Amino acid sequence: MNRSSKIETFHISTYGCQMNLADSSTLIATMIARGYRRVADERDADLIVVNTCSVREKAEERVLGRLGELTGLKKWRPGLKIAVVGCMAQRRGAGLIAEMPGVDYVLGPDRLFELPEVLEGRENTSAVMTAFGHENIDLIEPARETAYSAYVTISRGCNNYCSYCIVPYVRGRESCHSVQHIIGAIRKLVAEGVVEVTLLGQNVNSYRCGEVDFPGLLQLVVAETDLPRLRFMTSHPKDFSKRLADVIAAEPRILPHVHLPLQSGSDRVLERMGRLYTWDHFRCMVDYLRANLDYLSLTTDLMVGYPGETPDDYEQTLDAVRYAQFDSAFMFRYSVRPGTTAARLDDDVPEEEKISRLRRLIDLQQSISWERNQREVGQVRRALVEGWSRRSREQARARTEGNKTALFPCASPREGALVPLRITSADAFTLHAELAGDSRC
Ligand code: SAH
Ligand code: SF4
Ligand code: F3S
Repeated sequence: MNRSSKIETFHISTYGCQMNLADSSTLIATMIARGYRRVADERDADLIVVNTCSVREKAEERVLGRLGELTGLKKWRPGLKIAVVGCMAQRRGAGLIAEMPGVDYVLGPDRLFELPEVLEGRENTSAVMTAFGHENIDLIEPARETAYSAYVTISRGCNNYCSYCIVPYVRGRESCHSVQHIIGAIRKLVAEGVVEVTLLGQNVNSYRCGEVDFPGLLQLVVAETDLPRLRFMTSHPKDFSKRLADVIAAEPRILPHVHLPLQSGSDRVLERMGRLYTWDHFRCMVDYLRANLDYLSLTTDLMVGYPGETPDDYEQTLDAVRYAQFDSAFMFRYSVRPGTTAARLDDDVPEEEKISRLRRLIDLQQSISWERNQREVGQVRRALVEGWSRRSREQARARTEGNKTALFPCASPREGALVPLRITSADAFTLHAELAGDSRC
C-alpha cells in the first residue's frame, strides 16, 4: 500500500448526535476494509480520530480540551497522527491546525469518509478538506452500531436554518439517500442479524425521494424488509403529519416513540427561532398521536434563554411541558453560535437567569418523567436486550419500545434478544422489570 506514513492502527472517539455515531460506524467499517486495525486503547493507536460536534459552545470546548490532551501525547510519540473530523472540523477548518499545531488532518462531515485516501496521500486530497457535497451520496454505506442494532442515515444536512442552529452551516444542504439504497442497506443489516434500525435525519419528515415521502418510506421499509423494529429521529414538528401518525399507529414494527423537539412553548419565541410552527400546531399533533396510538412515548428538546425570551415566554414553555407530558427531554441553555442569524441578536438573558430557568425546567420535566414511568408499572413491554446493566452483573439492560432503559434480573443476557418484560417499579430515568411469562433472558 502506498502510505505516506506507517499508520496501521486507529482509535476513534465520537462526540455529538446519532448522526456522528452513524458516520463514525461507517468510517470504522471503511478503515477496516482498507486494512487499518481499530484499537480500543488510544495508547496503542498510530492514528487518533476525533469526530466532533459544534452545536453548543460547550460541545466545542469539550473537544478542544480533549485535543489539548491528545496533541500533548505527541511529545512522547512523535509518529502519532491526529485527525479531527465532523462538525467542528468543518466550522473551524484550517484554523484548527493554526490553533492546535498537533492536529494533522481536518475533515468536515462530507469529507470524512475520504480519510483513508488522505492518509495514503492520494491525488486530490489534502490535510484540510471541508468542501460540501458528494459525488454520489448513496456510496456512503451504513454500518452496524452493535451486533443487533444500526443507524441508517436517510438524509444528510439540513435546509431549515433555525436561527440559533449551526447544523446547516456545518453539514450543508439536505440531500436524501435513495429509497433503493435505504431498503438495500436494511436488508443487508437484517441478514447480518440486526433487529433494530433507527432511520436518521436532522428532519426525517422532510424526506422525499421521487414520489416517496417519509410516511411512504416507513411503509416501504416495513413491506420490503423483515426488520423486526424500526425507529426514526428527529421529527420536525412543522412537517409532522397526521398521515405519519396513522402509519405509526397501523404498523406494530414501527416503534411508538416520537422525538419531537418543541424548543419553546411561546409562539413569539418560536417565530423568532424560525421554527415555522406554533404551539397550537404542536399541541394538535400530540393530541392526535395520543388519540390514535395505544401507547406513545414522546420525547423532546427544549431550550431556555433564547434572545428576548421574557419570563412570560418562559412560563409558556413550562405550561407547554405540563400539557405535553413528555416522557423525557433534552434541555439546554441557549448558546450563541457564530455565523447563525441569532448571533446578530443581543444575547440578553443573563447567564444566571438562563441557569435558573433551566434548573426549574429540568425539575418540572423530571417530575413528569417520574410520573410517566410510574404508568409503565404493571405493563408488559417487548424490550431489546443490550447486555449487562452498567452497574451490576446480576442485572441485564434492555431498551423498551418507548426507548426507555429497563433493568431486570438475569444471569447471562443474550444481547440482541427481544424479551417481554413486566415493569415492576420505576424512577424518573429507569424502569425496573422482570421477565414476563416463562421466557428466558
Ligand atoms: N434537527 C434537530 C435538532 C438538532 S440539534 C431538530 O430540529 O430538532 C439538537 C438540539 O440542540 C436542538 O433541538 C436544540 O434544542 C439544541 N440546540 C441547537 N442549537 C443550539 C444552540 N445554539 N444553543 C442551545 N441549544 C441548541
Ligand atoms: Fe438545526 Fe433546525 Fe436543522 Fe434541527 S431543523 S438541525 S434545529 S436548523
Ligand atoms: Fe453536533 Fe453536528 Fe450533530 S453539530 S449535534 S454532531 S449534526
